[in-house]
Amino acid sequence: MNWYPQAPTEVRWHMHILSKTSELPDPLEPYLRVDRTRIEHECWVVGHMVAGIDGTAAVHGKVGPLSTGPDQSLFRRMRRIADIVMVGAETVRREGYGVIRLDEEARAARTACGRPQTPPVAIVSRSLDLDWTARVFTDAPTHARTQLITCAASDPDRRAQAAEVADVIIAGDDQVDPAEAFAALAARGHGVVLCEGGPTWLGEIVAADRLDELCLSISPVIGGDPLPVCVNPAGAGIADFELLGTGVEDSTLFLRYEKKAGERGD
Ligand SMILES: NC(=O)c1ccc[n+]([C@@H]2O[C@H](COP(=O)([O-])OP(=O)(O)OC[C@H]3O[C@@H](n4cnc5c(N)ncnc54)[C@H](OP(=O)(O)O)[C@@H]3O)[C@@H](O)[C@H]2O)c1
Repeated sequence: MNWYPQAPTEVRWHMHILSKTSELPDPLEPYLRVDRTRIEHECWVVGHMVAGIDGTAAVHGKVGPLSTGPDQSLFRRMRRIADIVMVGAETVRREGYGVIRLDEEARAARTACGRPQTPPVAIVSRSLDLDWTARVFTDAPTHARTQLITCAASDPDRRAQAAEVADVIIAGDDQVDPAEAFAALAARGHGVVLCEGGPTWLGEIVAADRLDELCLSISPVIGGDPLPVCVNPAGAGIADFELLGTGVEDSTLFLRYEKKAGERGD
């Protein structure tokens, strides 16, 4: 009888050192180079999130204290790649979301490739407990009216109020179904959806196998709220990603992942 497991054959891993050698003239450049036309489903979905070293997604309910200068800069500039910027309702409520503003260079670059100067915001909500006088609705330009994505079970009176200040999309019955939501956005010509969270909505997207790319900044802090950057809905499995890009500025780490093709073997 063998009481001890056999020693496994030693696997030789090829670990590399990430060193601060070649400086990037423009931190956005590697993100602009990604081909986001390789869609597997309705459209290409990019998540952009920041986490503390311990994975926390907020400090006292806000992202601000977590986000370093270089992260804030990349976060704002990344919106240039988006056909639409999507966000969960709780993030809109807590962060006081406004419409998307881009600098002159970004607006010109978008116009040059036939895109509207700025992307609209899409808000996901079942409760429709939102302030209809907020800037995210009132300041939206006509070319980028705010989109409100909800489900059939939402309150019809609130939907009617919403329709006065936003385009209302119904995607799903009892709650918003990510696949239906992305199909509706794709049908409106939004091929690249930039999802800025929050953790609950991002978890729904991952569970529905709709997250193609994740841009994750790791901020050099520990502490904050017990909220991970992605909240897995009950019963959701594990999704695999591969690391395709890295960057570092001061102590902020920038990681770019894409969904790994194929099924998990375990
Ligand atoms: N670290 C980061 O990068 C980052 C990014 C964004 C936000 N945050 C932080 O995250 C916190 C908010 O977290 P959160 O997870 O609660 O925010 P969230 O995902 O933005 O919002 C959750 C809300 O979105 C709506 N929602 C989500 N899934 C839905 C579905 N399938 N159908 C219908 N509605 C759905 C619901 O809105 P209703 O309640 O209206 O029905 C739900 O309450 C804030 O403190 C914020 O600062 C961090």
